[in-house]
Formats: sequence, C-alpha cells, structure tokens
Amino acid sequence: MQKIRKAVIPAAGLGTRFLPATKAMAKEMMPVVDTPSIQFVVEEAIASGIEDILIITGKGKNAIEDHFDANISLENNLREKGKDKLLEKAQSTTIPSIHYVRQAYPRGLGDAILQAQTFVGDEPFAVLLGDDIMPSKTPLTKSLMDVYEKHGMGAVATIRIPKEKSSKYGVIDIEENLEEDVHSIRHLVEKPSPEDAPSNLGIVGRYVLPPEIFDILRNQEPDAGDEVQLTDALEILNQTSPMVAYEYDGIRYDVGEKYGMLVANIEVGLQHEETSEKMREHLKQLAKDLKKA
Ligand code: G1P
Repeated sequence: MQKIRKAVIPAAGLGTRFLPATKAMAKEMMPVVDTPSIQFVVEEAIASGIEDILIITGKGKNAIEDHFDANISLENNLREKGKDKLLEKAQSTTIPSIHYVRQAYPRGLGDAILQAQTFVGDEPFAVLLGDDIMPSKTPLTKSLMDVYEKHGMGAVATIRIPKEKSSKYGVIDIEENLEEDVHSIRHLVEKPSPEDAPSNLGIVGRYVLPPEIFDILRNQEPDAGDEVQLTDALEILNQTSPMVAYEYDGIRYDVGEKYGMLVANIEVGLQHEETSEKMREHLKQLAKDLKKA
C-alpha cells in the first residue's frame, strides 16, 4: 500500500457568496476569529502527516501565497518592538512545503483537481476542500488515510444530511456496510433533488483518491453549467476502482456560506483565550434578550 504523502487544496473559487467582501479578497482568507479559513485546512493536512501540499489558486488569490510565506518587514518590525508572541504567530504560518498552481478558467472542482496531476504523479493523494472546517481530535484526513490503508480503496468523507438538503451535496448510494462507519459505494450522485437522493449520506470536503482519477477527469465533459464535477469522475472511477464512504460525525463548519461562517466565528470565539469570556457573557445576555423579544 503506497503511503499518502501529498494533499491538494482547491482554492480557485470566486467566492461570490461573500460579495462584496470577496470582490478584492480571496474567500479563503476570510478569518475565523484571527485565522484565515484556509489555514485550518492546511493545519489539518499537516496534522494528518501530509508532507507536501498543493494549493490550486487563480486570479486574485495572491494573498494566500503571501500568508504562507515569510513577511520579513513585519517580522523585523515585531522583533524591534520586542513583540515576541506576535512574531511567533506571524512566523507560524510560514510553510515552505506548500506549492501553488493556477486554474486558468473556473471550470469546476474536477478541473481544479486536474491541475494537480504533475504535482501528484503516480501516487494516491488527499483532497481537502476549504469550505469545510472540521475540527476533530483525530484529523478527518488522517481518518480517511487510515481507512484507505485498511481497505485499500479510495475514500470519501461523508456526514448524515437532512434529505431536503441533498441538492447541496454529492450523495452516496451505499452498497454494503463494511464497518459501522465505513460503507462500500454503489453510486455517487452530484447534488440530486431530495426525491432522487439515494441516501442521506452527503459528501463533505475530504477525499483520498488514487491517481487514476486524472485520466477520468481529463476525458470528462463539463456539465450543463460548464463545470467538470469531481463527483461525476468518482462515479466513473468507482466502477473500476471501488471506493468507500467514511462516516464522520464530528463538528463541521460550512465556511463556504455566511451562516456557517458566523457559527464558526461564534464557536471558535467561545474557545479563543482572548475572547472566550466576553463572548460567553455577551451570548448569555443576548439569549436572555431574545427570549424576552
Ligand atoms: C462540493 C462537491 C460536493 C460536496 C461538497 C462538500 O460542492 O461538488 O459533492 O458534497 O463540495 O462541501 P460545492 O459545495 O463546492 O458546491
């Protein structure tokens, strides 16, 4: 079994759900309290044992590269002022094992992943989507890597979703339960209507995939919206290289939309050493006021 060493993080999306904030700023740089959302995902990959990361960027995404690079003038400034803790924070996101490639046209997630072929080569690899922040004692990517190693099959992370939300997710048609939280996959359907959803198991943004996915993506026709869907490629892959779905039941923040971003800020703010106490008091008071209203 080949070890998973590489991860791909697509970050080329336009982020239109956050306009006007994303008019001149990468959506991946939107902070949860004081941390850009993409940093959570990079940290999950590193905590899972990933050695090299490729971020798929695009026009207007330079801030992501700057964030993971050194900022020498900032460092000098903080050093001169003796602000050691802040200096440490600034330096902590300087990560040389991150590589970048651009997706020239916004042709969907499948096309974004295809840009990673040269970086990945002939190895299995992990994919982490930046819209999902899933803090967990065992990082979710690590759990998927373990499932891949145990079963020798590509793995996608899933959660139980309310059926009426099927059209926001790739949905799994389960073939067989291999373990309590691992299911073999019969089919994968991208964003079905609730009536057509084969189950309530929706894909969340973590995958471990074999390199065969690239040939499929290269030959795939875009859908009606001119996007190459990763889920459609996985459906084809699954016919020749069967995959499994791993069921995750931990915390998930969907920071790809406003509500999820707000919830993430509140909950992470409740744990942050500089804000937790004030936040708790504020929320208690707010709850009281809302009860009265
Ligand atoms: C993408 C995938 C979808 C998956 C979702 C998870 O959709 O295409 O299968 O369920 O991520 O967040 P997006 O949310 O980018 O539209």
